[in-house]
Formats: sequence, C-alpha cells, structure tokens
Amino acid sequence: MSDIVFKIAPSILAADFGCLAENVLAAQAAGADLIHIDIMDGRFVPNITMGPMVVEAVAKVATIPLDVHLMIVEPEKFVQRFADSGAATISVHVEACRHLHRALAQIAAAGCGAGVALNPHTPASAISEVMDMVRLINVMTVNPGFGGQQFINSTLSKIRNLRGLIDSIGADIDIEVDGGINSATIGAALSAGATVAIAGTCVFQHEAGIAAGIAELRRAARELHGED
Ligand code: DX5
Ligand code: ZN
Repeated sequence: MSDIVFKIAPSILAADFGCLAENVLAAQAAGADLIHIDIMDGRFVPNITMGPMVVEAVAKVATIPLDVHLMIVEPEKFVQRFADSGAATISVHVEACRHLHRALAQIAAAGCGAGVALNPHTPASAISEVMDMVRLINVMTVNPGFGGQQFINSTLSKIRNLRGLIDSIGADIDIEVDGGINSATIGAALSAGATVAIAGTCVFQHEAGIAAGIAELRRAARELHGED
C-alpha cells in the first residue's frame, strides 16, 4: 500500500477568533500544511468575514503558507492588498470575475500562486482556457458563504474531470476541496483526485481539540486508501 499524498488546509472560519493566534499555532503544530482564510464581502456570498488585517495577523504567527480564498465581487481591486498581507496563494471565483484571465495574471504579478474557485454549479470547462495560469483549483463542495454545511456529492464527477484534464496536460496543479470535508467525506474527495483537503468545522470545532481533528482526517484518508 503506497501512502496517499495530500495536504490538509484548516480553514480559520471555524476558529475561535478570541484566540486566533493560538488556534493557528495549534493547527500548525498538529501538521497542517496550509492555513485557509475565507474572505467574504456580503455581496458575492451572503456573509461577511474578514479582510487583509486578519491575514496580516495570521501571517505574523504562521510559518506555513496562507491560502486566501476571495469570495468577493471585483476581487481585482484587492489582490495586491492580500498579497501584501502575506498570502502565498490567492483564489478568485470564476463567477466573480468578468476578466478571469486578467485577474489570474494580476495574482501572479503580485508574487502569489494563482488559484481559481468554482461554485458547485460551475462546470470544469469554465477554466479550460486558463489552465496554464493556475497553481490551484478550488472545487467548492458546498455553496460558498458558511462553514458547517453538507458536502455536495455531485461535485465528485467535476473533481474527476479536472483530475483527468490536469493529468492529460501533465500540469502541476493542486485540486482543493472546500466545504463539508470530514472523516466521512475526505476519502471520496481524495479518491476522485483532490490533493488538498480544506476543513474548518471538523478541525477547529472537534470535541477533542484541533490536533485530534487533523489526526482524524488523516486516519480516515489512510483507511480509505487501504481499501482501494
Ligand atoms: C465556505 C468556505 C470554506 C469553509 C469550510 O464558503 O469556503 O472554506 O470554511 O468550512 P467547513 O469545513 O466547516 O465546511
Ligand atoms: Zn474556502
């Protein structure tokens, strides 16, 4: 049995903001590979979360890369701000960009890895012409806006399509799965071809603590892989 290779990106949306630094450090110490930061504007999605100041605060304590997910309209206006705040990668939504190609070029020019996020209803084909510009694809496995939602199973076929497309061109692009990831869903997502599991609730709100949440995800992923 070869070991399954994937990254875990805890989403601080589910963290305790009263002790955010401690939560981030705990996730990092427990083996998190990235910290995922969800930026919402109350317009692209029906919720408001945080801005560049919070990214900056996390950057002060984290030594692992910060993965910034922009769920905002006109993301081009804020790419530079988030890059300056310490983002390693920045993802924009296909549905929020009138000029997706330009936005991705802007992220790269700001010195960050460019990512593109797809809502559950958006097909893989929406990004076929920008595959050479992206380092990661965020496949939303819930409708963006809130943590703690249920994984949408129909997104699995899109993950498989994207994996096929990436492999056919031999590209080095991560596929992130974002929303509803827990020990019951991580296996299917990884088997379909995802390489980064973003997880909020099941990490930061695990009853036995952050480290236990991360360990449970790794265990679930390994068990499934063993059954392949
Ligand atoms: C949802 C966000 C997710 C969210 C995932 O719009 O993009 O990153 O934090 O939260 P859970 O893991 O609780 O579904
Ligand atoms: Zn996210």
